[in-house]
Amino acid sequence: MRIGIVGAGHIGGTAAKLFARAGHQVAVSNSRGPATLASLVSSIGTNAKAMSTIEAVKFGEAILLALPYRKVDALPPGESFAGKIVIDATNPYSATGGVMSLGESTSSEEVAKRMPGARLVKAFNTMGWNTLASGARPAHEERLVVFIAGDDGAAKATVAKLIDEIGFASIDTGSLREGGHRQQPGSRIYGRPMTVREAKQILG
Ligand SMILES: NC(=O)c1ccc[n+]([C@@H]2O[C@H](COP(=O)([O-])OP(=O)(O)OC[C@H]3O[C@@H](n4cnc5c(N)ncnc54)[C@H](OP(=O)(O)O)[C@@H]3O)[C@@H](O)[C@H]2O)c1
Repeated sequence: MRIGIVGAGHIGGTAAKLFARAGHQVAVSNSRGPATLASLVSSIGTNAKAMSTIEAVKFGEAILLALPYRKVDALPPGESFAGKIVIDATNPYSATGGVMSLGESTSSEEVAKRMPGARLVKAFNTMGWNTLASGARPAHEERLVVFIAGDDGAAKATVAKLIDEIGFASIDTGSLREGGHRQQPGSRIYGRPMTVREAKQILG
């Protein structure tokens, strides 16, 4: 699969490596331009390219949003995401590190509003990047969970397959609204590496 990655820091850079290792083509992008991503791309190998953000969005059948939530307004126009699977790893932290108040809404619902037609799945937002970097396990071992939420079942199935291919288990927490709340910062499954068994105990 072609995966465009917007934000090539802790989460985006780590996910790019894992997706490329699983055989996918990745295009990484950041705010400063492709020239600044040369060393990341060479460390990943032939499955990776650096592009501008808009090029990475055009390139991807799936797009991973791995930039700060407060920078989402700087993303390419919403229509460039139409029809694509958008994996939203962002969390609504302010520049000072506090969790932003979104009222009844969730961060992924707010992201979805600015890209109508995108097939948005909230995923990779609850797991710390260092766990993502080192926590992959073979299928026969008890794997750590990457939670997914969204309203498009087929998109969630594709993201679940990607998660399996990189060595993690997925658990569907529900719709963008309900699952999104379950996956927000401060929730019982946020920021705690856990196996499927542990996650099911917590979620009930
Ligand atoms: N760190 C974690 O463990 C973790 C875990 C789960 C979820 N998350 C979420 O994942 C997101 C990224 O976190 P991170 O820790 O990976 O941050 P990070 O290491 O600071 O990386 C952020 C990346 O976003 C890029 N970026 C910033 N503004 C951009 C823009 N307008 N267009 C394109 N790219 C832009 C940055 O590029 P430049 O350097 O060129 O500005 C950088 O590559 C956040 O929303 C965070 O809440 C983080």
